[in-house]
Formats: sequence, C-alpha cells, structure tokens
Amino acid sequence: MLTLTIDGIEVKVKEGSTILDAAKEAGVDIPLLCHHKMLHPFGACRVCLVEVEGSPKLMTACTTPAADKMNIFTQTEKLQRVRKTAIELLLINHPLDCPVCDKGGECTLQDLTFEFGINDERFDAEPNDTPVDHSNPFIERDIDRCVLCGKCVRICDEVVNIQAISFQNRGTDTIIGTSFDQPWHCEYCGQCMSVCPVGSLNNRVYLFKNRPWNLESTYSTCGFCSCGCTVVVDHQDNEVFRISEDPEAGINHGFLCAKGRFGFELFNSTKRKSKPMIKGKSGFSEKEYTDAIDFSADKIVKIKEEHGPESIGVIVSPRLTNEEAFLAQKFGRDVIGTKNIYSFETADALPEGTYEDVENSDYILVLNNDVTESNPILGLAVRRAARHNPAKLNVFYSKYTALRRVSSEFIKDNPKKIYEEIDDLVSTVESGKGNYKAMAEELSKAEKPVVIYDPYARKDIEFAKRLKNSVNNLITVPCKWKNNSQGIADMGCVNGLKPGYKEAEKGEGLREALETDKLKALIVFGENLATKAEFKDLTGSFKKLDFVMVSDPFFSESAELADVYLPVATFTEKDGSFTNLEGRVQQIFKAVEKGLPTDADIIGDLSAKLSKELPRDIESVRDMIKKENKLYSSINFDGEVISYPYLFAEDIKDEKMELASTGKYYLAPASLRLHSGSYTRHSPDLSKVYSEAMLEINPEDAKALNVEEGEYLAVKVGDMTRKYKVNIDKHVDKGTVFLPNDYNETAAVFHKGRYLKVDLVKHEA
Ligand code: SF4
Ligand code: SF4
Ligand code: SF4
Ligand code: FES
Repeated sequence: MLTLTIDGIEVKVKEGSTILDAAKEAGVDIPLLCHHKMLHPFGACRVCLVEVEGSPKLMTACTTPAADKMNIFTQTEKLQRVRKTAIELLLINHPLDCPVCDKGGECTLQDLTFEFGINDERFDAEPNDTPVDHSNPFIERDIDRCVLCGKCVRICDEVVNIQAISFQNRGTDTIIGTSFDQPWHCEYCGQCMSVCPVGSLNNRVYLFKNRPWNLESTYSTCGFCSCGCTVVVDHQDNEVFRISEDPEAGINHGFLCAKGRFGFELFNSTKRKSKPMIKGKSGFSEKEYTDAIDFSADKIVKIKEEHGPESIGVIVSPRLTNEEAFLAQKFGRDVIGTKNIYSFETADALPEGTYEDVENSDYILVLNNDVTESNPILGLAVRRAARHNPAKLNVFYSKYTALRRVSSEFIKDNPKKIYEEIDDLVSTVESGKGNYKAMAEELSKAEKPVVIYDPYARKDIEFAKRLKNSVNNLITVPCKWKNNSQGIADMGCVNGLKPGYKEAEKGEGLREALETDKLKALIVFGENLATKAEFKDLTGSFKKLDFVMVSDPFFSESAELADVYLPVATFTEKDGSFTNLEGRVQQIFKAVEKGLPTDADIIGDLSAKLSKELPRDIESVRDMIKKENKLYSSINFDGEVISYPYLFAEDIKDEKMELASTGKYYLAPASLRLHSGSYTRHSPDLSKVYSEAMLEINPEDAKALNVEEGEYLAVKVGDMTRKYKVNIDKHVDKGTVFLPNDYNETAAVFHKGRYLKVDLVKHEA
C-alpha cells in the first residue's frame, strides 16, 4: 500500500492507483472532463491538474500514478488559475449556443464555466460553422461543440470494440469522425453519446423535445431483452421523453443497447389503444374495461361449465413481471382449475453464470449464437473480458460477429458443419480424441472457463451439458431472450412445472390441444402467437375456439384473432420485478400512468368475478411467491441471484440436428440487436433503421443470384415461397442465409424447422 497526503488528509491506496484514486479515497473533489472510470486515462483536458510537493510541473490527477509519501495540493490559487485557463481555451472555438443546445443543464463544460466564474471571452477566435451531421440515425453530431476529450473514441474502442469513430487530422483541424468520412454505420448503442460531456453528440430521438430540468427520473430495469440493464426513465406529465443510464447503478455499468436507449417512443405510440375491444358480428368495438372483464368472466364460466376446466388454456408472455406471471399461472391452475399453462419459454436450460463470471473469465467459448445481437450487454462483457483480461475467446457460428476482432479463433461455416465442429470439440474434450486437441486442452486447463450458448435449441443445450460434465469449474450461460424469459419459467408458466420447477400434472400440449379441438378457450397474457414458428399453422384454429382473450400493450396480430382485446401497461407503467439471464431478480418501477390496467389488474378482476380473490398489491403477491417458490423464499426482489436446482433437463441427450428440407442454401435464425419480436417493432425510430425482416446473404451468393442490396429474393422451402428484402453482408458464410425469427413474416418459414435448406430466386419488389 502507498501512503500519501491530499490537502492535508493522509490516505492509503493500492500500488498502481492514480492521484485521482487517492483524492477519491480522501473524499476530495477534483474537476474532471476527459476522465471516465471505465476507460483508460487519457489526460486531454488538463482541468484535473494538481500540485505535487517537490515537483516543478503541475500533474494531471487522472493519469499520474500515486507514489508513496506524495504530498498533493488540489485547491491552490495557482491551480484555480490554470484550470480556469484550460477551460477558457476549450471555449475559444466552442459556440456559446447553450440556450439551443440539448446538453444545456447537464453539460460538464457549462458546469465548469460556472464553477470557475468565467463570464467573458479573453481569447478571440473565429467561430466554426460546420454543418451538423445526421448520418447516424440516432445520434446528432455537432463537431463545433466538441472539446476533443476523446471519451467517445475510447468507449467505442475499449468497451464496444467497434472503433467506428476516431480522431482525424492534426492540430487545430482535429475532429472526431469516421474513416474517410463515411456515413456513420455502427451498432447504434449510443455509448459514445452517453459519455460526451458536451452537446457534440446528441440523442436524436429526444432532440429538442424537452429540457433536462423538467424531467423526473425513475430508475427501473429494461423491459426488452434478458440482459436486465438498469435504465433511468426520464419523464414528464406521463410521457417518456428519454431512457438514459447511470454508470453507478445496475449490472450494466451504464451501458445500454440501441433498443434499450432509443426504442422508448413505442411507449408514447399513438397506435396504442386506450380502451378494450370486444368482437361482435360487425367486428371490434370499443368497450369499457369493466364490460370487457364481465364479458370475459362470463365466457370463462360458461365454457368451464360446459366443457370442464381442461378446455381452457392460459398462455403467458415474458413481458409479464414475476408477480404477474405467478398470478397468471395461479389464475389458470387455482381459479379456473386447468393444467393447461403455457409459454414459449424453456425449463430445459437454467442460468448459472453472472456478468462477473464472464468479465473475470480466462476462457470463453461461444457456441452457435451471436450474443452481441441477442444479448448486447452480455456481448459487451464478453468483449471486455477478451480484450482486457485478456480471456481466450473461441466462437463457433455461421457468420462473423462483432466478437471476431477479439477472438482467438472464430470457426465459421454452414450451420450443419458448425454443429459437426462443435461436436468434434466437445468429443475431444470428453475423450481426448478429435481435431480440437489444443482448444480442448486450453479449455480444460482454464481456471474460470465460461460457455455461452443458445438455450432454445436442444442440440445446443446438449453441447453445453456435455461440456459441463467434462470441464472442471465450467460456468454455463444460456442466452435467455426476452426481459423475463427466465422469470416466467421460475414462476411456473411452463406446462407441467409449478413455481420453483415443482412438478405439476402436465396439461395437453398446446399444439395437440388445438389440433384435437380439446381447447375451447384461450386466455393469452401478452403473447403474440402469430410470431411463433411453432404455431404459425395453428393461428387459423383460433377461429374454432369459443373464446379467446388477449392482453397486449399493442393491438397485435393475435389480438386481431381474439374475441376480447385488453390494452395493458408496458414496463414503464407498472411495478414489479424481472429475472434476467443470470437469474438475477431486479425491480421495475412505474414511471408514467397511461390509465391502462396491468396484467395483474386483469387477473385480479377476472378472479374476483370467478369468485376467487387473488392478492393485488405487490408485497402480498411477493409473500405468496416466497411461500410457494422455494427458490425465491429468502430474496427481497432487489438484485439477488437465484441458485437453480438443476442446469439442464434430464432428457437432453443425443439430440439430432434438424434439417427438415432440401435446397441449395442453409437458412439459419438471426437475432437482431434492434428488435426483439413484435414489441420493439412499434418503435418508429428502431423501425426506421430496420423496418422489415431482411435476408442476410454473402456478397458472392448475392452476385450469383443477381440481386443487389435492397432488392428481393424469394425463399422456397417445400411448396412454400416467401419474399424478403436482401441485406448483403460479407460476414455471412457463403452458402448460408439468415432471417430473423420471432417475426410474423418469418414464422411460417421457421415453422418448417429451426435450420433449413432452402432455394433462393430473385423476386420483384
Ligand atoms: S453508437 Fe456505439 S458503436 Fe456507434 S460510434 Fe457510438 S459507441 Fe461506437
Ligand atoms: S464528441 Fe464529445 S465525447 Fe467525443 S471527443 Fe468530442 S466532446 Fe469528447
Ligand atoms: S441489452 Fe437488453 S436489457 Fe440492456 S438495454 Fe439493451 S434491450 Fe435493454
Ligand atoms: S480529467 Fe484529467 S486530463 Fe482531463
């Protein structure tokens, strides 16, 4: 340990600490501009200068290593003068347009100017008048306001690892830009914008819509994917104006993805209905909430009396909170009395690893998925570990992903070959025999190995299970998909499993029940069955049902098939909790009121009509969960990680890779960073960038098929043909094409199989 004195306060810090670390330890504030705790020190702005006894020069606190017995002064008159000059120099070319700058009120330069009492301009300079750049769909770039702190460049390099932007030119001509001034194509994560201390990088979705001092901030958990990022919902008068981050809160260190940061306009969408709708002979008509509840309850009672409780099924979506999901299965099992509780989530693979395990790992294996698209913040953790630990990273996939730059080996081939290669690796690990001896040896010798896999394909689960059985200390991380994919399974919303994975009598499978007309009614909480490949062929059979009720924040394709549609609150409009891909239970808090019920309200009101009261307030529901779900018995729903009773279902073994069709090209399911199923497609901003399901294809294949970017290809599988816009991507393996799954437009294709061989032909738009 080093002992030093800061402004007369003695502190002890670890070897390798900076003067800034020591000042923090002493509780002394030093002004900062270019420093960020997650980035390497840079020393660009000089506002953190300090005096060190015995040193003729002033030192930058953020970059200077602390040394034993240093005596440091941070608040002398000389320092105030020099820091003030450093800020005045930054202001020479900085336009004084604070009244119309979106950063006004939360700008570090503005705060420092005020703090140092700068009220006139000592230096003359021609103001720049560079046009504002709008080539990034989410981020406005005004280079005249840039103070060249380098935070944006460093975060895009050190954290996102994309290096989309860099310093260009030299001296007074230095700017931040893209290579060769190309349009700004990147991951659109907005990390650069979030660290920009001035109004040089601005949020285009929020631009000129409000001022920060008008906004109230509610901390919550993102409701899009299962990463479980802490978000700050900034709102006024029941409208969400911005989603921002807090680097000090949550597991995401203040990092967000494009969906979480820029998709928020969907909450304010005018397409959302304000009243329930009941279908009559001439179509849907708006009704009062109580009428829709009475109507639904009467139907449920009647169908139950006529056909028995097993004629009714309940489907639960991962958009529901843990509390709502628990109530939904209770409503099905105890209030209606049916065993038919369904969701599209899996209990075959449960979480084991945390972000900390990934970040501290020395060996990461990513099997057959693009974690940077499906679970962006987990993807960032992998990149950080590979870049900074550095962990060995090996990836097997049919497309080069953003992990390629930091991977030791990236095995890319068609999906069938990828499965064979993974099988080869796993067999080599198991028996020592195979073609991956070096990789298998490294994996076996690693101290903190991690495998990241897709839990929605049984073959992938099988690989993870076999590796877990053969590699000491291996931590398995299933890439669960949606915000509460894990939580609804934990809450017993899987056929045959009660809360806490307690066995329950299994209901008829949803497919069998629909095909054999055993089901007469479906109560659908938040799920959009039209996007589900498994049931694409069965949505027509909904018409045969006596009653379908659908709740959803949007009037979805499934809602169109219903008899009763109930618009409900989104995650910004309710309280509760989600369980993320680590098995971490985190709270969500209501930020805005839209006058819409939650799914918990609907369940409570329907239950009351069916003469059985279920609790309505969160605390009572949580008490029930604690009693009935052993896994949650001692948690306080505020960030603890669940310890699961098993990692893999027992019956996962020797799964076959499905390839149901024949054709020239392999077709594989793609995850998208900008969308997760039907929900985010209601965001006008995300949809501007990715508006429809596109077919990703290698340039050579596109050339052979005579198609250009933006033209259309027909996918032929068996007797079915569907056309998709072409997205040419050199990272895709030649001979393989990708389509997003969980899309209404692609569900029919993937209904034929998760992996297919298809034919492609050019098609008119
Ligand atoms: S949005 Fe993300 S990927 Fe794009 S330049 Fe900024 S930090 Fe880099
Ligand atoms: S754009 Fe912002 S973050 Fe980037 S160098 Fe300029 S001031 Fe710093
Ligand atoms: S990574 Fe997932 S949880 Fe995090 S901001 Fe993006 S969508 Fe939300
Ligand atoms: S904060 Fe230390 S030089 Fe900028």
